[in-house]
Amino acid sequence: MVPAGSRLLLDVDTGIDDAVALMYLLATPGVGIEAITCTAGNVGAQQVAINNLALLDLCSYAGVEVAVGSEVPLEVPLVTTEETHGDQGIGYAVLPTPRGHVSGRHAVDVWVEAVRSHPGQITGLVTGPLTNLALAIRAEPRLPLLLKGLVIMGGAFHHPGNTTPVAEWNTHVDPHAAKEVYAAYEGLPVEKLPVVCALETTERIECTPSHVDAVSRAAGAGPELLATDQPEGTRSANGNAVIACLSDALRFYMEFHRLHDQGYIAHLHDLFAAMVATGEAQVQERLATVDVETDSALTFGQTVADVAGMWKRAPNARIVTGNDPAAVFELMVRRLAALARTHG
Ligand code: BDR
Ligand code: CA
Repeated sequence: MVPAGSRLLLDVDTGIDDAVALMYLLATPGVGIEAITCTAGNVGAQQVAINNLALLDLCSYAGVEVAVGSEVPLEVPLVTTEETHGDQGIGYAVLPTPRGHVSGRHAVDVWVEAVRSHPGQITGLVTGPLTNLALAIRAEPRLPLLLKGLVIMGGAFHHPGNTTPVAEWNTHVDPHAAKEVYAAYEGLPVEKLPVVCALETTERIECTPSHVDAVSRAAGAGPELLATDQPEGTRSANGNAVIACLSDALRFYMEFHRLHDQGYIAHLHDLFAAMVATGEAQVQERLATVDVETDSALTFGQTVADVAGMWKRAPNARIVTGNDPAAVFELMVRRLAALARTHG
């Protein structure tokens, strides 16, 4: 159960797993979404905004502001990853043109105005590159203290990268932004430090075809088959629009993971981070000082954690070290089934 009145401010690069995270949040009683800001990452920022608006329509969720932020990283050219998330960012899912429009406000203004208006009440959740958050902290250096808390999906600690041998995608897209954000948190009270969901725990969140089938059956929408012997790109014939979207999105992601020898599964990094942000995922954490490599060609974008105080710098992060994938999927099935039952 999420305490009534929980307020979340999201920054996303939707993205298949961002989309599943958003569906979970929209389906979770007690969660209020202040706004959704869009960063360039998996796809360009404008496409991210379209995806978010279309998902809000799909889930019949009105009245959430969707704002675009920086369309490029702070210092390096933008690289997107359509081969991972599909041309439009949500795999094979094709959603109708959204009814809503992108906000006239810039993402940075959305973050700054939100935390100034509601100091200590809003939890930030960033599931894309940290570009917008870095810019917002430049604009309002008190932002880390004005937030109630912050959850970041990003990084890889003592774990292989998923973009280079040592770098995770979100951090690799904009390492300069990540470096600035972690620096801004150095020495702040522990409860304000970002809770960092990095690959060593998010890659444990392996979604399989059976999870999708379970959501569909629990929603009363019948079986939903994602099978390894079906031709690539097979589309869902499910009459429930939420199930069809989930299935078409995740099929693409599973095909991508299979292509990279990880099996017919999909890592739902951002879903896990969203459950940490609502407080529904039980986790173990470790305090650390995190920094990001921005100079070396070899290790560009690598996140490095000092947990032993060797750098003689104050902690700036709470790295998640343990999680419970079975509990994550039990919750995912319950929430997405309820969403599909009422809005599919
Ligand atoms: C992260 O990169 C993106 O592709 C996913 O959406 C997730 O946020 C995982 O490295
Ligand atoms: Ca993402």
